[in-house]
Amino acid sequence: MTDTEATPAGDETLEQQLEEMLEIETFDPPESFVEHALLSDSAVYEEADADWKGWWVKQAKELHWFTEPTKDLNDSDPPFYKWFEDGKINASYNCVDRHVEAGNGDRVAFYWHGEEGESREITYADLHRDVQKFANALKDLGIEKGDVVGIYLPMIPEVAVAMLACARIGAIHNVVFGGFSADSVKERMEIAEAKALVTVDGARRKGKTAPVKQQVDKAVSDLDSLKHIVVVQATNADCEMQDGRDVWYHEICDAADDECPAEELEAEHPLYILYSSGSTAAPKGILHTTGGYLTGVAATHRYVFDLKPESDVYWCSADVGWVTGHSYIVYGPLANGATSVMFEGAPDYPHKGIWWELCEKYKVTLFYTAPTAIRACMKWGVEHVEKFDLSAMRLLGSVGEPINPKAWLWYYKVIGGERCPIVDTWWQTETGAIMITPLPGIVSTKPGSATRPFPGIEADVVDESEGKPIDEGQGLLVVTRPWPSMLRTLYKDDERFIETYFSKFGKETYLVGDAARKDEDGYFWIIGRIDDVVNVSGHRLSTAEVESAIVSHGKVAESAVIGQADEDVGQAICAFVTLEGETEGTDELVEEIRARVGDRIGKFARPKRIIWADDLPKTRSGKIMRRLLRDVAEGKALGDVTTLRDPDVMQQLEGKIKEEQASEQ
Ligand code: WT7
Repeated sequence: MTDTEATPAGDETLEQQLEEMLEIETFDPPESFVEHALLSDSAVYEEADADWKGWWVKQAKELHWFTEPTKDLNDSDPPFYKWFEDGKINASYNCVDRHVEAGNGDRVAFYWHGEEGESREITYADLHRDVQKFANALKDLGIEKGDVVGIYLPMIPEVAVAMLACARIGAIHNVVFGGFSADSVKERMEIAEAKALVTVDGARRKGKTAPVKQQVDKAVSDLDSLKHIVVVQATNADCEMQDGRDVWYHEICDAADDECPAEELEAEHPLYILYSSGSTAAPKGILHTTGGYLTGVAATHRYVFDLKPESDVYWCSADVGWVTGHSYIVYGPLANGATSVMFEGAPDYPHKGIWWELCEKYKVTLFYTAPTAIRACMKWGVEHVEKFDLSAMRLLGSVGEPINPKAWLWYYKVIGGERCPIVDTWWQTETGAIMITPLPGIVSTKPGSATRPFPGIEADVVDESEGKPIDEGQGLLVVTRPWPSMLRTLYKDDERFIETYFSKFGKETYLVGDAARKDEDGYFWIIGRIDDVVNVSGHRLSTAEVESAIVSHGKVAESAVIGQADEDVGQAICAFVTLEGETEGTDELVEEIRARVGDRIGKFARPKRIIWADDLPKTRSGKIMRRLLRDVAEGKALGDVTTLRDPDVMQQLEGKIKEEQASEQ
């Protein structure tokens, strides 16, 4: 590694220092880190490759099994793989009981910190008590093994309790991120036929309280499959309780028995469904099962974060409603007996240094966040960081989108004090666990690259047409071996599962949906999605989903949505909208359309930019040419438009963009 300490700090601005650091290609793991790392010998990669199924069996054995599996992988019916199928296991038992039985009941599982400065310490013994109570309460409501239970909660400890309580009795949880609208909740409860929904009276955000239960009521009133709504009293926001359907969380827990032994479940018993966006408007119900998933998240959490559960304080800043929260706030860390920070609020409330204040307060050692958050912090300025002591920090992680080298270096220098390795972790809701990542005590990092597959994982970059591995240039990212935490199917839609992931290159090659390249050292560089999925602040959205929300507005005839490169959020939603008849595009209409998308999907999905279009560029077969829309939105010169049904459309759009730019100046 180049000698960055030798730069005369003080004489230079941070900006200049970062510019200079851009010259550095690789960063070796700091020696002080390697010395104590769980894994520091690169032989682990060869060991795992030589017997990859055996390697995963070894990881599975770190878990508690009621019945140890004798089988590793069943690949007799690809792409429907089964792992450890004759084993019996329970995720809640592994995340809670095991630690209490080992005498670690007093260890803090979560340091919860509320928006208004409240704090709660939840030990493993507390979790054990609360999870059993709520599991019994669910049973008392008639929830049985295999039933689907929706969870729509903010970042409060009850969200983890609810998930674990479901896992305990073999109910399948279906968490909906709190940022999604009540309409989205309804859609997701309906397709999964959820019997119960756990939600809150209200949720706090930056000093305000949003009435969650009221909104939910409006959306789910005609949902027959939903028999119960359990309401956590979190804010005292106004809400009506419907007799026979709605119950208070605290009341049913009080009434429930204390003890609820964890069900002995088959390894392939479904653990959860998590809806994620795909190429079409209908979200995909990604299904994860128990034994393999837990094996994957526990092993990756331990080795990627180099977790020492007795001494580390770990913080993943994601929301539990996304897969990052499922795998790296709940299941991975708890299976490993980690102590975590859980924060209710936004990174800039009550002030822009709150994350770092909490890192100091809880002496956080391992921190995991998204590039979009890092870029926001860069913008706010180092003064918000420098007020706090981050000397306990020893490792930093990034996830959700490619991290630009500048943000990587800022993170490394300002947050990590140039002594913490950065793990840029590539994975997906579908993969369940981290797939491509450095092992921090072994792999030298290059800013912007997720480096190499985790031991046991095999990935490649292949050419679009034949699926042959390519050594140079950009291609499609694929995973070429099954892995324990892989999705098992799309809930009740095996066909879409095969079609989406296992049709392009056959049933044994998982098509990721990302473009990537490999460099001369075999490092992977993820470029971005190849499908119509947009990544806004690490939140995955399908353009079709946003389009369908926009056209649900009565005055809209047609819409095409693209993701546009954006400094702050990675990709921003830009919508081309054709209005009905003679309707004029007004500012008021812009707001109406944005509000409509907010109601249909969630506020984070609202278009940043709306461009009125007389018509959209279409091929003769009627397919919208998004590539042209992307070019025109970015003010690029237009290439070949001769395949368009009506080439004049593009001129009109170019004119609009010019007008827009002129009026901004
Ligand atoms: C998509 C998956 C995995 C948790 C968060 C998102 C992009 C994710 C990285 C990374 C470059 C990344 C990919 C992927 N992505 N991590 N480290 N570098 N891109 O989960 O919503 O399922 O989205 O996020 O495009 O396909 P998700």
